Amino acid sequence: MKTILEQATELSEQLIDIRRDLHRNPELSFKEYRTTEYITQILLLAGIEVVPWGGETGVVGLLKGDQPGPVVALRADIDGLPVTEENNCLYQSLQPGVMHACGHDAHTACLLGAALILAGRRASLAGTVKFIFQPAEEINAGAKLMLEQGVLTNPAVDVIFGLHNTPTLPVGQIGCKEGPLMAAVDTTFLTIKGTGGHGAIPHSTRDPITAVAAVIQGLQTIVSRQVDPLAAAVISFGTINGGHAHNVIPDKVELTGTVRTFDAVLRREMPGRMQGLISGIAQAMGTQAEFVYRQDLPAVFNPPGLAAWCRQRLEQVVGTTGVVTPVPSMGGEDFALFQEQIPGVFLWLGVGNPAKGIVHQWHNPCFDIDEDALKFGAAALAQLAYDYLGGVGR
Ligand code: NI
Repeated sequence: MKTILEQATELSEQLIDIRRDLHRNPELSFKEYRTTEYITQILLLAGIEVVPWGGETGVVGLLKGDQPGPVVALRADIDGLPVTEENNCLYQSLQPGVMHACGHDAHTACLLGAALILAGRRASLAGTVKFIFQPAEEINAGAKLMLEQGVLTNPAVDVIFGLHNTPTLPVGQIGCKEGPLMAAVDTTFLTIKGTGGHGAIPHSTRDPITAVAAVIQGLQTIVSRQVDPLAAAVISFGTINGGHAHNVIPDKVELTGTVRTFDAVLRREMPGRMQGLISGIAQAMGTQAEFVYRQDLPAVFNPPGLAAWCRQRLEQVVGTTGVVTPVPSMGGEDFALFQEQIPGVFLWLGVGNPAKGIVHQWHNPCFDIDEDALKFGAAALAQLAYDYLGGVGR
Protein backbone atom coordinates (compact mmCIF):
# COMPACT_ATOMS: atom_id res chain seq x y z
CA MET A 1 0.00 0.00 0.00
CA LYS A 2 1.24 3.47 -0.83
CA THR A 3 2.07 5.89 1.96
CA ILE A 4 -0.15 8.90 2.45
CA LEU A 5 2.67 11.17 1.28
CA GLU A 6 3.04 9.12 -1.90
CA GLN A 7 -0.68 9.48 -2.56
CA ALA A 8 -0.49 13.23 -1.89
CA THR A 9 2.47 13.53 -4.24
CA GLU A 10 0.46 11.83 -7.00
CA LEU A 11 -2.33 14.35 -6.36
CA SER A 12 0.07 17.30 -6.40
CA GLU A 13 -0.84 18.63 -9.86
CA GLN A 14 -4.54 18.42 -9.10
CA LEU A 15 -3.99 20.27 -5.82
CA ILE A 16 -2.08 23.00 -7.68
CA ASP A 17 -4.97 23.29 -10.16
CA ILE A 18 -7.46 23.57 -7.29
CA ARG A 19 -5.36 26.19 -5.53
CA ARG A 20 -4.96 28.24 -8.70
CA ASP A 21 -8.66 28.09 -9.49
CA LEU A 22 -9.46 29.37 -6.01
CA HIS A 23 -6.68 31.94 -6.21
CA ARG A 24 -8.13 33.39 -9.44
CA ASN A 25 -11.56 33.62 -7.85
CA PRO A 26 -11.14 34.90 -4.29
CA GLU A 27 -14.23 35.88 -2.31
CA LEU A 28 -14.57 38.01 0.82
CA SER A 29 -15.77 36.73 4.21
CA PHE A 30 -19.31 35.30 4.14
CA LYS A 31 -19.40 35.91 0.37
CA GLU A 32 -17.68 32.61 -0.51
CA TYR A 33 -20.56 31.35 -2.72
CA ARG A 34 -18.52 30.17 -5.70
CA THR A 35 -15.90 28.68 -3.40
CA THR A 36 -18.61 26.79 -1.50
CA GLU A 37 -20.03 25.36 -4.72
CA TYR A 38 -16.55 24.42 -5.96
CA ILE A 39 -15.65 22.58 -2.76
CA THR A 40 -19.04 20.83 -2.67
CA GLN A 41 -18.62 19.47 -6.20
CA ILE A 42 -15.18 18.01 -5.46
CA LEU A 43 -16.38 16.35 -2.24
CA LEU A 44 -19.46 14.86 -3.91
CA LEU A 45 -17.36 13.51 -6.78
CA ALA A 46 -15.14 11.79 -4.20
CA GLY A 47 -18.19 10.14 -2.63
CA ILE A 48 -18.12 12.29 0.51
CA GLU A 49 -21.44 13.26 2.03
CA VAL A 50 -22.05 17.01 2.20
CA VAL A 51 -24.28 18.03 5.11
CA PRO A 52 -26.03 21.38 5.58
CA TRP A 53 -24.56 23.20 8.56
CA GLY A 54 -26.80 26.27 8.84
CA GLY A 55 -24.82 28.90 6.93
CA GLU A 56 -24.94 30.13 3.34
CA THR A 57 -21.23 29.72 2.70
CA GLY A 58 -18.76 27.15 3.97
CA VAL A 59 -19.05 23.40 3.63
CA VAL A 60 -19.18 20.45 6.00
CA GLY A 61 -18.34 17.02 4.59
CA LEU A 62 -18.68 13.66 6.33
CA LEU A 63 -16.72 10.53 5.56
CA LYS A 64 -17.84 7.49 7.54
CA GLY A 65 -15.33 4.67 7.76
CA ASP A 66 -16.37 1.07 7.43
CA GLN A 67 -15.78 0.46 11.14
CA PRO A 68 -17.09 2.46 14.12
CA GLY A 69 -14.77 4.76 16.06
CA PRO A 70 -14.13 8.36 17.07
CA VAL A 71 -14.85 11.48 15.03
CA VAL A 72 -11.95 13.59 13.78
CA ALA A 73 -12.56 17.04 12.33
CA LEU A 74 -10.18 18.64 9.86
CA ARG A 75 -10.65 22.37 9.36
CA ALA A 76 -9.61 24.84 6.66
CA ASP A 77 -10.60 28.48 6.21
CA ILE A 78 -11.73 29.56 2.74
CA ASP A 79 -12.08 33.36 2.56
CA GLY A 80 -9.99 36.01 0.79
CA LEU A 81 -9.07 39.57 1.73
CA PRO A 82 -9.80 43.09 0.45
CA VAL A 83 -6.29 43.41 -1.05
CA THR A 84 -5.37 44.14 -4.68
CA GLU A 85 -2.93 41.52 -5.92
CA GLU A 86 0.40 42.77 -7.21
CA ASN A 87 1.77 39.39 -8.33
CA ASN A 88 2.11 39.01 -12.09
CA CYS A 89 1.36 35.32 -12.47
CA LEU A 90 -0.82 32.99 -14.50
CA TYR A 91 -3.18 32.52 -11.59
CA GLN A 92 -3.48 36.20 -10.63
CA SER A 93 -6.76 37.20 -8.97
CA LEU A 94 -9.54 38.00 -11.44
CA GLN A 95 -11.49 39.92 -8.80
CA PRO A 96 -10.40 43.56 -8.53
CA GLY A 97 -9.62 44.46 -4.93
CA VAL A 98 -9.95 40.90 -3.63
CA MET A 99 -7.08 38.48 -3.14
CA HIS A 100 -6.19 35.27 -1.37
CA ALA A 101 -3.45 37.21 0.40
CA CYS A 102 -3.42 34.92 3.44
CA GLY A 103 -3.23 31.64 1.52
CA HIS A 104 -6.65 30.29 2.48
CA ASP A 105 -6.82 29.01 -1.11
CA ALA A 106 -3.90 26.75 -0.20
CA HIS A 107 -5.59 25.61 3.03
CA THR A 108 -8.72 24.71 1.06
CA ALA A 109 -6.67 22.78 -1.51
CA CYS A 110 -4.84 20.90 1.26
CA LEU A 111 -8.09 19.90 2.97
CA LEU A 112 -9.62 18.79 -0.33
CA GLY A 113 -6.47 16.76 -0.95
CA ALA A 114 -6.83 15.13 2.47
CA ALA A 115 -10.47 14.35 1.67
CA LEU A 116 -9.52 12.69 -1.62
CA ILE A 117 -6.83 10.59 0.09
CA LEU A 118 -9.05 9.52 2.99
CA ALA A 119 -12.02 8.75 0.72
CA GLY A 120 -9.86 6.09 -0.93
CA ARG A 121 -9.09 4.58 2.47
CA ARG A 122 -12.63 4.38 3.79
CA ALA A 123 -12.41 0.60 4.22
CA SER A 124 -9.62 0.91 6.78
CA LEU A 125 -11.05 3.89 8.68
CA ALA A 126 -12.40 3.12 12.15
CA GLY A 127 -14.51 6.19 12.75
CA THR A 128 -15.63 9.32 10.95
CA VAL A 129 -13.86 12.31 9.44
CA LYS A 130 -15.68 15.63 9.42
CA PHE A 131 -14.28 18.10 6.89
CA ILE A 132 -14.95 21.68 7.98
CA PHE A 133 -14.46 24.33 5.30
CA GLN A 134 -14.97 27.45 7.40
CA PRO A 135 -16.03 30.83 5.99
CA ALA A 136 -15.09 34.27 7.31
CA GLU A 137 -11.92 33.61 9.29
CA GLU A 138 -10.56 37.04 8.37
CA ILE A 139 -13.32 38.83 10.28
CA ASN A 140 -13.21 36.45 13.27
CA ALA A 141 -16.80 35.45 12.59
CA GLY A 142 -16.86 32.10 10.78
CA ALA A 143 -15.80 29.73 13.55
CA LYS A 144 -18.15 31.49 15.98
CA LEU A 145 -21.12 31.03 13.65
CA MET A 146 -20.29 27.41 12.87
CA LEU A 147 -19.97 26.60 16.58
CA GLU A 148 -23.28 28.33 17.32
CA GLN A 149 -24.84 26.16 14.61
CA GLY A 150 -23.45 23.02 16.25
CA VAL A 151 -20.73 22.08 13.80
CA LEU A 152 -18.99 19.98 16.47
CA THR A 153 -22.15 17.92 17.11
CA ASN A 154 -24.11 15.31 15.16
CA PRO A 155 -21.82 13.44 15.11
CA ALA A 156 -19.94 14.84 18.12
CA VAL A 157 -16.33 15.61 17.24
CA ASP A 158 -13.61 14.18 19.51
CA VAL A 159 -10.59 16.02 18.17
CA ILE A 160 -9.81 18.69 15.55
CA PHE A 161 -6.76 19.46 13.46
CA GLY A 162 -6.04 22.45 11.22
CA LEU A 163 -3.17 24.29 9.63
CA HIS A 164 -2.06 27.69 8.40
CA ASN A 165 0.65 28.34 5.87
CA THR A 166 3.67 30.39 6.87
CA PRO A 167 6.32 31.91 4.59
CA THR A 168 8.70 32.04 7.56
CA LEU A 169 9.16 28.25 7.32
CA PRO A 170 10.60 26.76 4.13
CA VAL A 171 8.56 24.38 2.02
CA GLY A 172 9.05 20.84 3.32
CA GLN A 173 8.81 21.84 6.96
CA ILE A 174 5.83 21.66 9.29
CA GLY A 175 5.74 23.64 12.52
CA CYS A 176 4.10 21.85 15.44
CA LYS A 177 4.37 23.44 18.84
CA GLU A 178 3.08 22.40 22.23
CA GLY A 179 1.30 25.18 24.16
CA PRO A 180 0.58 28.64 22.76
CA LEU A 181 1.07 29.16 19.03
CA MET A 182 -0.97 32.27 18.23
CA ALA A 183 -2.10 35.09 20.49
CA ALA A 184 -5.42 35.98 22.05
CA VAL A 185 -6.95 38.94 20.20
CA ASP A 186 -8.88 41.67 22.01
CA THR A 187 -10.10 45.08 20.83
CA THR A 188 -10.12 48.33 22.79
CA PHE A 189 -12.23 51.46 22.40
CA LEU A 190 -11.14 54.58 24.27
CA THR A 191 -12.65 58.05 24.39
CA ILE A 192 -11.02 60.87 26.33
CA LYS A 193 -13.37 63.80 26.96
CA GLY A 194 -12.23 67.27 27.97
CA THR A 195 -13.34 70.82 27.33
CA GLY A 196 -12.35 72.41 24.05
CA GLY A 197 -11.24 75.95 23.37
CA HIS A 198 -8.65 78.21 21.74
CA GLY A 199 -5.25 76.65 21.17
CA ALA A 200 -3.62 79.84 22.44
CA ILE A 201 -5.57 79.81 25.73
CA PRO A 202 -4.99 76.22 26.98
CA HIS A 203 -5.57 77.10 30.64
CA SER A 204 -9.25 77.70 29.88
CA THR A 205 -9.60 74.18 28.43
CA ARG A 206 -9.22 70.58 29.56
CA ASP A 207 -7.09 69.36 26.68
CA PRO A 208 -7.94 65.76 25.64
CA ILE A 209 -5.07 65.62 23.11
CA THR A 210 -2.40 66.16 25.76
CA ALA A 211 -4.21 63.68 27.99
CA VAL A 212 -4.31 61.07 25.23
CA ALA A 213 -0.58 61.50 24.62
CA ALA A 214 0.08 60.77 28.30
CA VAL A 215 -2.36 57.86 28.34
CA ILE A 216 -0.73 56.18 25.33
CA GLN A 217 2.73 56.55 26.85
CA GLY A 218 1.44 55.32 30.19
CA LEU A 219 -0.22 52.24 28.71
CA GLN A 220 3.07 51.09 27.22
CA THR A 221 4.44 50.83 30.74
CA ILE A 222 1.99 47.99 31.37
CA VAL A 223 3.96 45.91 28.87
CA SER A 224 7.38 47.16 30.00
CA ARG A 225 6.84 47.42 33.80
CA GLN A 226 3.86 45.27 34.84
CA VAL A 227 4.02 42.20 32.60
CA ASP A 228 6.63 39.51 33.29
CA PRO A 229 9.39 40.15 30.73
CA LEU A 230 9.33 36.45 29.87
CA ALA A 231 5.61 36.61 29.06
CA ALA A 232 4.42 38.40 25.93
CA ALA A 233 1.91 41.18 25.49
CA VAL A 234 1.22 43.89 22.94
CA ILE A 235 -0.88 47.02 23.35
CA SER A 236 -1.24 48.89 20.06
CA PHE A 237 -3.51 51.68 18.87
CA GLY A 238 -4.50 51.64 15.22
CA THR A 239 -6.78 54.69 15.05
CA ILE A 240 -6.72 58.04 16.78
CA ASN A 241 -9.23 60.73 15.90
CA GLY A 242 -9.81 64.14 17.37
CA GLY A 243 -10.04 67.77 16.41
CA HIS A 244 -10.68 69.61 13.15
CA ALA A 245 -8.46 72.72 13.16
CA HIS A 246 -4.81 73.32 13.97
CA ASN A 247 -5.53 76.02 16.55
CA VAL A 248 -8.61 74.59 18.27
CA ILE A 249 -8.40 72.25 21.24
CA PRO A 250 -11.15 69.67 20.72
CA ASP A 251 -13.68 68.33 23.22
CA LYS A 252 -12.72 64.71 22.77
CA VAL A 253 -10.34 62.22 21.18
CA GLU A 254 -11.26 58.66 20.22
CA LEU A 255 -8.91 55.71 19.83
CA THR A 256 -9.24 52.07 18.87
CA GLY A 257 -6.60 49.44 19.42
CA THR A 258 -5.67 45.81 19.77
CA VAL A 259 -4.30 43.83 22.70
CA ARG A 260 -2.45 40.54 22.24
CA THR A 261 -1.48 38.02 24.92
CA PHE A 262 -0.78 34.29 25.20
CA ASP A 263 -1.36 33.65 28.89
CA ALA A 264 -5.01 33.32 29.92
CA VAL A 265 -4.46 34.84 33.39
CA LEU A 266 -2.59 37.81 31.96
CA ARG A 267 -5.35 38.26 29.40
CA ARG A 268 -7.97 38.42 32.16
CA GLU A 269 -5.90 41.03 34.02
CA MET A 270 -5.39 43.33 31.03
CA PRO A 271 -8.72 45.23 31.12
CA GLY A 272 -8.28 46.11 34.80
CA ARG A 273 -4.66 47.16 34.40
CA MET A 274 -5.49 49.36 31.41
CA GLN A 275 -8.59 50.85 33.03
CA GLY A 276 -6.66 51.78 36.16
CA LEU A 277 -3.92 53.55 34.25
CA ILE A 278 -6.31 55.30 31.85
CA SER A 279 -8.60 56.57 34.62
CA GLY A 280 -5.71 57.77 36.78
CA ILE A 281 -3.97 59.71 34.02
CA ALA A 282 -7.18 61.11 32.53
CA GLN A 283 -8.37 62.31 35.92
CA ALA A 284 -4.99 63.84 36.81
CA MET A 285 -5.23 65.89 33.62
CA GLY A 286 -8.78 67.04 34.26
CA THR A 287 -10.38 64.87 31.61
CA GLN A 288 -12.72 61.86 31.66
CA ALA A 289 -12.12 58.50 30.05
CA GLU A 290 -14.57 55.95 28.68
CA PHE A 291 -12.91 52.60 28.08
CA VAL A 292 -14.39 49.45 26.53
CA TYR A 293 -12.39 46.22 26.33
CA ARG A 294 -13.81 43.54 24.04
CA GLN A 295 -12.48 39.98 24.18
CA ASP A 296 -12.49 38.64 20.60
CA LEU A 297 -10.48 35.40 20.41
CA PRO A 298 -8.58 33.25 22.89
CA ALA A 299 -5.03 32.13 22.11
CA VAL A 300 -4.40 29.16 19.81
CA PHE A 301 -3.15 26.63 22.36
CA ASN A 302 -2.04 23.10 21.48
CA PRO A 303 -2.47 20.62 24.35
CA PRO A 304 1.02 19.18 25.01
CA GLY A 305 0.16 15.47 24.86
CA LEU A 306 -1.81 15.72 21.65
CA ALA A 307 0.77 18.02 20.05
CA ALA A 308 3.54 15.54 20.90
CA TRP A 309 1.51 12.79 19.26
CA CYS A 310 1.06 14.98 16.16
CA ARG A 311 4.79 15.72 15.94
CA GLN A 312 5.55 12.03 15.93
CA ARG A 313 2.90 11.23 13.29
CA LEU A 314 4.00 14.14 11.08
CA GLU A 315 7.46 12.60 10.77
CA GLN A 316 5.75 10.20 8.34
CA VAL A 317 5.11 13.20 6.09
CA VAL A 318 8.20 15.43 6.32
CA GLY A 319 10.73 13.27 8.18
CA THR A 320 12.29 13.87 11.58
CA THR A 321 14.08 17.04 10.50
CA GLY A 322 10.99 18.39 8.73
CA VAL A 323 8.96 18.72 11.94
CA VAL A 324 10.10 21.90 13.67
CA THR A 325 9.11 23.89 16.74
CA PRO A 326 8.11 27.33 15.47
CA VAL A 327 8.34 30.66 17.23
CA PRO A 328 4.78 31.66 18.16
CA SER A 329 3.03 34.56 16.41
CA MET A 330 1.21 37.51 17.98
CA GLY A 331 -1.33 37.13 15.16
CA GLY A 332 -4.66 35.50 16.00
CA GLU A 333 -6.79 32.71 14.51
CA ASP A 334 -10.38 31.77 15.20
CA PHE A 335 -9.34 28.08 15.20
CA ALA A 336 -8.82 28.87 18.89
CA LEU A 337 -12.61 28.84 19.37
CA PHE A 338 -12.76 25.17 18.31
CA GLN A 339 -9.93 24.41 20.75
CA GLU A 340 -12.00 25.99 23.55
CA GLN A 341 -14.60 23.27 22.98
CA ILE A 342 -12.55 20.14 22.19
CA PRO A 343 -8.90 19.05 22.04
CA GLY A 344 -7.24 20.28 18.87
CA VAL A 345 -3.87 21.01 17.34
CA PHE A 346 -3.02 23.78 14.88
CA LEU A 347 -0.01 23.38 12.61
CA TRP A 348 2.06 25.69 10.50
CA LEU A 349 2.81 24.57 6.98
CA GLY A 350 6.07 25.88 5.52
CA VAL A 351 5.42 27.59 2.16
CA GLY A 352 8.43 29.90 1.95
CA ASN A 353 11.09 29.69 -0.72
CA PRO A 354 13.50 32.66 -0.95
CA ALA A 355 15.10 31.19 -4.10
CA LYS A 356 11.74 31.60 -5.87
CA GLY A 357 11.15 35.03 -4.29
CA ILE A 358 8.44 33.62 -2.02
CA VAL A 359 9.19 35.66 1.06
CA HIS A 360 6.23 38.04 1.48
CA GLN A 361 4.20 37.88 4.65
CA TRP A 362 0.47 37.30 5.08
CA HIS A 363 -1.83 40.07 3.77
CA ASN A 364 0.93 41.56 1.57
CA PRO A 365 -0.20 42.27 -2.06
CA CYS A 366 2.79 40.18 -3.21
CA PHE A 367 2.01 37.24 -0.89
CA ASP A 368 2.44 33.86 -2.58
CA ILE A 369 3.25 30.26 -1.64
CA ASP A 370 5.53 27.57 -2.99
CA GLU A 371 2.93 25.17 -4.37
CA ASP A 372 5.15 22.17 -3.58
CA ALA A 373 3.83 22.67 -0.04
CA LEU A 374 0.30 21.60 -0.99
CA LYS A 375 1.15 17.90 -1.02
CA PHE A 376 2.72 18.17 2.43
CA GLY A 377 -0.32 20.02 3.80
CA ALA A 378 -2.75 17.51 2.34
CA ALA A 379 -0.66 14.59 3.58
CA ALA A 380 -0.29 16.08 7.06
CA LEU A 381 -4.04 16.49 7.55
CA ALA A 382 -4.80 13.05 6.08
CA GLN A 383 -2.06 11.37 8.16
CA LEU A 384 -3.33 12.81 11.45
CA ALA A 385 -6.94 11.81 10.78
CA TYR A 386 -5.99 8.37 9.48
CA ASP A 387 -3.65 7.55 12.36
CA TYR A 388 -6.05 8.92 14.98
CA LEU A 389 -8.88 6.76 13.67
CA GLY A 390 -6.54 3.79 13.39
CA GLY A 391 -5.46 4.33 16.98
CA VAL A 392 -1.79 4.58 15.95
CA GLY A 393 0.25 5.41 19.04
CA ARG A 394 -2.75 7.11 20.59
NI1 NI B 1 -5.05 33.40 7.42
